[in-house]
Amino acid sequence: MTWLITGGAGYIGAHIVRTAIADGHEVVVLDDLSTGVAAKLPGGVPLITANLKDHKAVEQTFIDHQISGVVHLAARKQVGESVERPLYYWEENVGGLTNLLFSMQQHNVKNLVFSSSAAVYGQPDLAESETIQESLTCNPINPYGATKLAGEWMANALVNSDEFKVAALRYFNVAGAAADDLGDTFALNLIPIVMQAIKAGSEPKVFGTDYPTTDGTCIRDYIHVQDLAEAHVAAMKLVSSSDPSFQAINLGTGKGTSVLEVIEVIREVTGREIQPTLSERRAGDPPSLVANATLAAQALNWTSRFTLREMVESAWSAWQHQH
Ligand code: WQD
Repeated sequence: MTWLITGGAGYIGAHIVRTAIADGHEVVVLDDLSTGVAAKLPGGVPLITANLKDHKAVEQTFIDHQISGVVHLAARKQVGESVERPLYYWEENVGGLTNLLFSMQQHNVKNLVFSSSAAVYGQPDLAESETIQESLTCNPINPYGATKLAGEWMANALVNSDEFKVAALRYFNVAGAAADDLGDTFALNLIPIVMQAIKAGSEPKVFGTDYPTTDGTCIRDYIHVQDLAEAHVAAMKLVSSSDPSFQAINLGTGKGTSVLEVIEVIREVTGREIQPTLSERRAGDPPSLVANATLAAQALNWTSRFTLREMVESAWSAWQHQH
């Protein structure tokens, strides 16, 4: 049974590739290498270097390989960029997925694990102690989140029309690395941004200190990328063995951490003095986003194992290795 992993050469995808292989699965990767790195793939893993918008290349992949399921990650994922270039996001994320689903339909491949995002929830109006359940109404506030929600809808429609079996995994804040060569190479999220600032000798910014939270900074649910990868392998098994269905599942730890708490852990782990600049709020940041992780535990028989400290330790080690 061969799984096609789109975006498998990226930060998260490469973790999934290695975890799936270690679990005994055969994998094929399709990645346009716009942000992915071929060297992250273990030797022997077939790589098709193509963008999902290239319908011919996607179709040829299904002709050349006996694919029985797809883990779909290949997409654009920068919230700010999606606001500036919305059509690019719709074209890449929804257009790419449309091609992929056509080929899956054509080749009778019905198992799909879809990389979704907590961005589908938007800015939920919750009390500070409340976590986010999958049943919450989705209301994305940026084109990135909207394309992820549209992707969920498209996949869901194929459950009825073609008996697809879909797990849409809604990621919270992914961090850490399982090995030094698998670290996040981009400084686009809080932990790598702070590490980059340490290396550059500059001061990281804390966006907003007047939120209605314990220390005034935003609360997020940080999850180790290796935990996330293991949840994907569990989801591959879930869809393979289930009846036609669509399940949206949060991937988080259920534990919230504030921006200042994250910076404190980075200070402890790196031993470096960090003097963050306390800045204005960043537009569109909800005060608190923490997953209710109950469904993941039930449906995937999976719970997160790694602590925030382990995320920061592994991210720091990989960051130093790469920079
Ligand atoms: C985390 C916290 C910032 C940078 C994004 C996407 C989301 C998902 C995960 C893909 C926030 C604060 C950040 C900085 C700061 N992506 N911060 N100074 O926005 O929670 O989630 O990534 O699916 O869809 O929106 O992640 O790492 O940008 O921010 O104070 O320099 O750190 O305000 O509270 P975010 P983030």
